[in-house]
Formats: sequence, C-alpha cells, structure tokens
Amino acid sequence: MTSAGMQPTALNRTTHPTVAIIGATGAVGQEFLRVLDQRHFPLGGLKLLASARSAGKTVEFQGKSIVIDELTEQSFEGIDIALFSAGGSISKKYAQAAIDAGAVVVDNSSGFRMTDGVPLVVPEVNPEAITTANIGLGQGQRPGIIANPNCSTIIMLLAVTPIHRAVGVKRVVVSTYQAASGAGAAAMAELEQQTREVLEGKEPTCTIFPQQYAFNLFSHNSPMKPNGYNEEELKMVHETHKIWSQAGDKKTAITATCVRVPIMRAHAESINLTLDKPMTEVDARKLLAEAPGVSLIDDRENNRFPTPLDASHADDVFVGRIRHDLSQPEGMGLDLFVCGDQVRKGAALNAVQIAELLLA
Ligand SMILES: NC(=O)c1ccc[n+]([C@@H]2O[C@H](COP(=O)([O-])OP(=O)(O)OC[C@H]3O[C@@H](n4cnc5c(N)ncnc54)[C@H](OP(=O)(O)O)[C@@H]3O)[C@@H](O)[C@H]2O)c1
Repeated sequence: MTSAGMQPTALNRTTHPTVAIIGATGAVGQEFLRVLDQRHFPLGGLKLLASARSAGKTVEFQGKSIVIDELTEQSFEGIDIALFSAGGSISKKYAQAAIDAGAVVVDNSSGFRMTDGVPLVVPEVNPEAITTANIGLGQGQRPGIIANPNCSTIIMLLAVTPIHRAVGVKRVVVSTYQAASGAGAAAMAELEQQTREVLEGKEPTCTIFPQQYAFNLFSHNSPMKPNGYNEEELKMVHETHKIWSQAGDKKTAITATCVRVPIMRAHAESINLTLDKPMTEVDARKLLAEAPGVSLIDDRENNRFPTPLDASHADDVFVGRIRHDLSQPEGMGLDLFVCGDQVRKGAALNAVQIAELLLA
C-alpha cells in the first residue's frame, strides 16, 4: 500500500520475491548463493540458470539440491528479481524477456550501465537513484533495469565518496591491482594451474590471458582504446561521473591505470585525491571509520595496512595508508590504499543490497 508522500515500494506485489540467478555456475553466481543465504534474503523461490553446458547439474543451497536450467527467453515466468551475471551480451539478449515477464533486472554486466535512464547504484552511495519511476515500474514504463557498477568503481567509491561529500574531490588518480577472480572462474583456475606449472619448471598454459599470469603482472586485459586507456580504466571514470551526478555532483577529474596482479581474490587500489576544501588526515580517518561499508586497517607503527587477504570474503572495503599527499598544499591532497572483495562487494553483495532496497 502506498501512502501519500511516500515512495511506492518497488516490488509491492510480494515481500518474498522469486529470484533467478543468470550465470549461477560462475564466480559471481556462486557468490550470489552465499550472499543470499548469509543475509537471510527473504526468498519466495530460487531459479538457477546458466548455459546449456551446465543444464542438469545441481547446486546445494540451504540443504537442498537445485537443478540448473538452461537460460532461454521462457526462463522468467514467475520471476520477480532477475540477478544477471553471465556477461554483457547475455544481459543484452535476455534482459527484455525478464522484464516482459514482470521481473526487475539487477545487472552485473556492463551491458546497461551507461544507458540513459538506467540507475547505476552503490547502495551506500546513491540509493536514491532507485525509484519506481526510474526503474520503470509505473504503467507503460520501461526498462526495469538497475545496473551494478564495475567492481573497481564500487570499491573506490566506498572509500572516496564520504570525502567527496564532506569537502569535494577535485581530482582522482587511481591505480589498481586486480585479482584473477575479477576475470571469472576460468581465470582463477588458470592462475592456479600456471603457478603449479611454473613451480614444477614447466611452460605455463596461457588460455584466458595471452601472457604468463603466475609470478607476473600486466596491464588490465580489457580492450585497449585508441586514446591509450583500456576499457576498465574508462569504466572507472565514466561510471563514477554517472553515480556521483545522480546525487547532483559536478564532474570530478579522474584518471586510472588498471593492472592485473597474480592474486586469487580481492582488488587493491592506490588512490590519490586533490580536494576542493582542506581535510586533515586525522579528519579523513575519523570520517572513513564511520563510513558505511568501510573498515580501517591503518596501523603505521606495525606497518599493517589492508591486504587482499583481509578483504577476501568480507563485506566491507578496507582502507589504510591514509596520509596527507606531500606534493600538495597542506590539507588539499590525500593518499589512500584500499582493498575490497570484488566478487562480493564489487558484484554479488552490491546486487543483493540493491534487491533488498527494492523490498524496503
Ligand atoms: N568476477 C567478478 O569479480 C565480477 C565483478 C563484477 C562484475 N562481474 C560481471 O559478472 C558477470 C559474470 O562474471 P563471472 O566472473 O561470474 O564470470 P564466470 O565465472 O566466467 O561465469 C560466467 C557465467 O555465465 C554463464 N554463461 C556463459 N554463457 C552463457 C550463455 N550463453 N547462457 C547462459 N549462461 C551463460 C556461465 O555458465 P556456464 O558455466 O554454463 O558456462 C557462468 O555461469 C560478467 O558480466 C562480469 O563482467 C564480474
């Protein structure tokens, strides 16, 4: 029921929605299952979808075996929320079928992130972007999609948005150290296999990445653009502008360098900020200690700062190395080092938090 002056509940037809996971066998799909279980998401039903390769396989969930079905356009009957994590081309091909069947699509791929009218949401940053109007649940409205931002963008924004809201961030220079899991289950298997092969003195097998990954690092594997940036770097720039602009901010200057490192899980980011108004490192530490979704590991005495292992399987993004940037006037620049589990907060958890907002 909608009372005057209140935003109507997005999914007012049920408090226990039936959820479909598209890409249920993948790195993100498997994390969806853990997050839904751990957060006691009020499931009315659960449907698991993947390619024909996985059809008929079973997955254990809350003590039951669930059979994986092949994704088709007919897969969405009775689905209230469709959590897509099977790549952009699959989202583009099947999202409309899900919407036509009455579902709200929460999409992990880059398929619709920059589409006008599709909210791009980090629940701790811009939950207000989700309204029934802009996800198109009103009469005759489309498209019914909410996009999950790129994982590196989510991790950065958890740490930087509180500072931006407090004093304004004029410029961001970010360098990433990205884990294998960001490229999916097959990339994780490749890193494991190559590590074993190299230790055994064998030639490493390169299937997912064109060059040796174990005991190496390289520029992010996303397509390179004519301007010398790769797609991952440009996602961090454009998605941040979209997310912050939804809250009425001006455009911050952002440049990114994204690198794949031989870490199994959780991305790290070195972030340099130029501020509009001064903020001391003491105030920044205090602000981030209270920020939602953020935990501090910032122990200079013991040289103990966030690591990908701290962040692995954790909900929060970990922040440390909070310090005044010596190259800028006192209080006008900050450096941070951030680690976050990109399969979890960078994908599955963020999408489930969006689904929870739909029920709120
Ligand atoms: N990994 C991350 O950290 C991360 C973070 C943010 C966003 N994302 C995005 O999430 C999506 C999934 O990533 P991932 O890392 O989970 O990849 P992944 O481990 O490679 O899993 C891909 C999933 O998609 C399914 N799939 C592939 N082709 C299909 C088809 N034709 N029909 C139906 N299902 C199909 C696969 O099913 P089969 O097993 O049957 O092949 C599998 O379940 C991508 O869009 C990615 O960009 C990933």
